[in-house]
Amino acid sequence: VSTIIEPFRVKVVEPLHRTTYQERQHLLEPADFNLFKLRAEDVLIDFLTDSGTGAMSTGQWSGIMRGDESYAGAQSWFRFQAAVRDLTGFEHVLPTHQGRGAERILFSGLDVAGKRIIANTHFDTTRANGEFLGGSCIDIPKRTLATEDLPFKGNMDLERLRQLLAEGEPVACVIMTITNNSGGGQPVSLQNIQEVSEICKRNGVPFILDACRFAENAYFIKTREQGHSHRSVKSIAQEMFALADGATFSAKKDGLANIGGFLLVRDPDLVESCRQNLILTEGYITYGGLAGRDLDAIAVGLEEVVDESYLEYRIASTRFLGQGLADAGIPVLWPPGGHAIYINASAFLPHIPAEAFPGHAVACAFYLEGGVRSCEIGSLMFGGKDPLAVDGGERKANLELCRLAIPRRVYTQSHIEYVLEIAQIVAAQKDTLRGFKIVQQPRFLRHFSASLAPT
Ligand code: F0G
Repeated sequence: VSTIIEPFRVKVVEPLHRTTYQERQHLLEPADFNLFKLRAEDVLIDFLTDSGTGAMSTGQWSGIMRGDESYAGAQSWFRFQAAVRDLTGFEHVLPTHQGRGAERILFSGLDVAGKRIIANTHFDTTRANGEFLGGSCIDIPKRTLATEDLPFKGNMDLERLRQLLAEGEPVACVIMTITNNSGGGQPVSLQNIQEVSEICKRNGVPFILDACRFAENAYFIKTREQGHSHRSVKSIAQEMFALADGATFSAKKDGLANIGGFLLVRDPDLVESCRQNLILTEGYITYGGLAGRDLDAIAVGLEEVVDESYLEYRIASTRFLGQGLADAGIPVLWPPGGHAIYINASAFLPHIPAEAFPGHAVACAFYLEGGVRSCEIGSLMFGGKDPLAVDGGERKANLELCRLAIPRRVYTQSHIEYVLEIAQIVAAQKDTLRGFKIVQQPRFLRHFSASLAPT
């Protein structure tokens, strides 16, 4: 039998709220044409993010009821710590309220001020945290073409890495984001992780995994990289973690939880300074800003996420959306990544320049036509004034994308088929879509709260 089914059945349902085209027109303006400012109930299919938006299992909900809310040394903490140790092999586990909490504590501990932070591609919060603390963030993805069908387009450029390290400037750490979210949700090969780990070791630079989507990445290694098809996804994940000196993790992705994260480090001095910072800013070292029940939900989620029938369904359903968009004549980054499909907005809307945010034009069109919410990943997210540059230099993104991120275990195939029908409507009117301009913006992470207007 070749049909890949959702490897679960529905036990609790949450009604969806429909709006009309006219209503959505009237909702966009008071939201300043910023989809983050919409009320979620005015969205029919929410592809804004796969972060914290997943459905929990019966096992996780039982964990919620088992949650021990003691302030220190709760049973939930020991179950969480055991699950993280089993998966990662790291002894020291620091719980945080979400991934960016771990990033901030790590970068403070590494004292990144005046140093370089090198990554295959920094995620937006990672870059913002690094820059906020005075680091300078450099992306060195291995360059590929948007349409080249390669198995591991998330890889780091090893030549560039060697060059940068040879320059002798202080480097706080090298970060490998798996999967490479801002680079199209593309996986990184185990070989690339091994080589970067080796280079870092030789240069005495800490090698950190941004491991948000480690299970999806490990599944791609199992199914695409030679020599790993016989292995379990869990053993591949364990090997990836073993190659790193530290890791940041958002449990809102491959933790299958709605909130949470953790930081892993090996160096005893770094562990100690991070623990102090944790107590000061997140919470005591056995809960890190989380409720006991959250720790239990994550402990169960980390076991469920390496289930291979789940990952097979997950990767197949993402691919189904990507294939459908391509068939509708919408250019997407190829091959599809793990958690999202990225529309290549500059190829789709060549009449809209990067300064007018073509990715955002696509996102607004999907919302207007079908109540589908997605997210620009381009010059709106990464562009604007460089917060570090004294002359206030303008930055531009490498790619103008619109991301449709798929929450885990939430939508069925018919939801995706509906989105594909909307895609055909959007594709038919692409020549008439218009760009946007920024009316007002904050200094950091401007896409979350900027006000926009159509040009
Ligand atoms: N690193 C990566 C690669 C991420 O994708 C995210 C979050 C974070 C770190 C930060 O984790 O949200 O728990 O603080 N990504 C979400 C997204 C927000 O929509 O891609 P967090």
